[in-house]
Amino acid sequence: MRHLLDVCDLSVKELDELIALAEDIAANKQKYAHIMDGKKLAALFFEPSTRTRLSFEAAMLELGGQTLGFSEASSSSAAKGECVRDTIRVVGGYADIIAMRHPLEGAALSAAMKSYVPIINAGDGGHCHPTQTLADLLTIHREEGRLDHLKIGLCGDLLYGRTVHSLINAMIRYEGVSFVLISPRELELPPYALDVLKRAGVNYVVTRSLEEFMSELDVLYMTRVQRERFSSIEEYEKVKDCYILTPEKLLSAKPTMRILHPLPRVNEISQLVDDDKRAAYFRQTVNGKLMRMALLVYLLRDDVRSQPARLASGKSYDGKCQNPKCITNNERELPVLVNEQGRCIYCEHELKM
Ligand code: NCD
Repeated sequence: MRHLLDVCDLSVKELDELIALAEDIAANKQKYAHIMDGKKLAALFFEPSTRTRLSFEAAMLELGGQTLGFSEASSSSAAKGECVRDTIRVVGGYADIIAMRHPLEGAALSAAMKSYVPIINAGDGGHCHPTQTLADLLTIHREEGRLDHLKIGLCGDLLYGRTVHSLINAMIRYEGVSFVLISPRELELPPYALDVLKRAGVNYVVTRSLEEFMSELDVLYMTRVQRERFSSIEEYEKVKDCYILTPEKLLSAKPTMRILHPLPRVNEISQLVDDDKRAAYFRQTVNGKLMRMALLVYLLRDDVRSQPARLASGKSYDGKCQNPKCITNNERELPVLVNEQGRCIYCEHELKM
């Protein structure tokens, strides 16, 4: 069966198919109202969520299916010390597909290795968030009419912002896309995400200024500083208000530019921006549900369900991953594996050879 652990698990053709399917679902709700009759989605959220969990649940319900799950680790057997892989094997006996969010990086990959049913990564620590990217792609496609030849500003917490990492992995595959990376030095992209840009030969510039390239952008993707990922509150306090988008800062922006944000927002976008037609972030949440509907239909389609899993693999590594938030440092008997780029296959941090 196929899983969705990062957006690279889907080809560009499949991304385009999912967008077309989401549009068809939006236009023909009745046609899809019973397509998941008798099917169950387990939403396993070991970390807080509003949009992602509820939109997955709404997606399954609107397709005629049912949902089960938990919304915090403390109400699951994780609180008793159960490892993710055991939880997943058990839940695979109760549900046809699992969407899971976990604070540790690589948790979804470790789960998929032992799962009997398709796993959808609904966010693994600061690493990836592919279904948010599906929402972002549909939003950009609907608002800009294309996914190629776009200049995209990524602003805020590029280090821990998992939605940014997955969005980069998707957008580098479309022709003529370039990036403006806007962050304080402390929150620059992690090396593995920067490598993705370099290896793809994509144009990008790094700036500390939100205004510098504003007039050139087609998409401005704002992000929240991810407080929960900092090692100390002092470190967070130093950067928490690094960028605040206001109507004044938008004066030089194109009328066709679109502002995206995965939400929740803290104060990085003033509420005064919300009524600007360029603000697409609430429309983006609706698109998230549509794309999750399309994804559930797709992954449970017989021909897709019968394809072999495409899991990252690597050689065994004699040592620990140096990323304390890597799943391998927290799950028992999960060996570290190294990929061809010398990175941990779970969290993509470089492994010292
Ligand atoms: C994002 C996430 O959880 O990574 N939210 C979401 O899924 N819509 C972004 C965030 O929490 O800042």
